Amino acid sequence: MKRLIGSLVCAMTFPVVAWGAGQALGDARRGALLIAQYQCGACHAIPGIASARGKEGPTLASYGLRSYIAGRIPNRPNLLVRWIAQPSALVPSTTMPDMGVPEQDARDMAAWLGEQR
Ligand code: HEC
Repeated sequence: MKRLIGSLVCAMTFPVVAWGAGQALGDARRGALLIAQYQCGACHAIPGIASARGKEGPTLASYGLRSYIAGRIPNRPNLLVRWIAQPSALVPSTTMPDMGVPEQDARDMAAWLGEQR
C-alpha cells in the first residue's frame, strides 16, 4: 500500500516538475489506458503502450523531451491537450484526424505523453 501511494504521488508530481512548473494536467495513469482505448497506436508507435506500432503517424517516443508538436507548435502541456482534442484547430492542413476526444481525456493522455522521456 505504501508503495502504491508512493508511485501514485510520483506519477502525479513528476510531470509537473519535469515538464514545466505549475502545469498539472491530468491523470497520466488514466492517460495510458485512454491511449490504448482510443487506439492511437493504430497510427503511432508508442513505447510503453502495448501493441502501439502504427506507422501512419510519427513515433510518440520520449514525447516529454520534444520541442515541437508536429514540427511547428511548441510542445507545451496545454497545446498538446488541444492537439489531441482537435489537431485541425491548431494545424488546419494536418493529416491527423480529429477523433472527437473530450478535453479531460486529452488532458490525461497529454499528461502521460509529457512524462515519457
Ligand atoms: C488515423 C491515424 C492517426 C490516429 C488514430 C492518431 N494519430 Fe496522431 N498523428 C497522425 C499523423 C498522420 C500525425 C502527423 C500530423 C502532422 O504532422 O501534421 C500525427 C501526429 C500526432 C502528434 C504529433 C507528433 C509529433 O511528432 O510531434 C501527436 C502528439 C499525436 N499525433 C497524438 C495522437 C494521440 C494521443 C492519438 C490518439 C488519441 C492519435 N495521435 C491518434 C495520425 C494519427
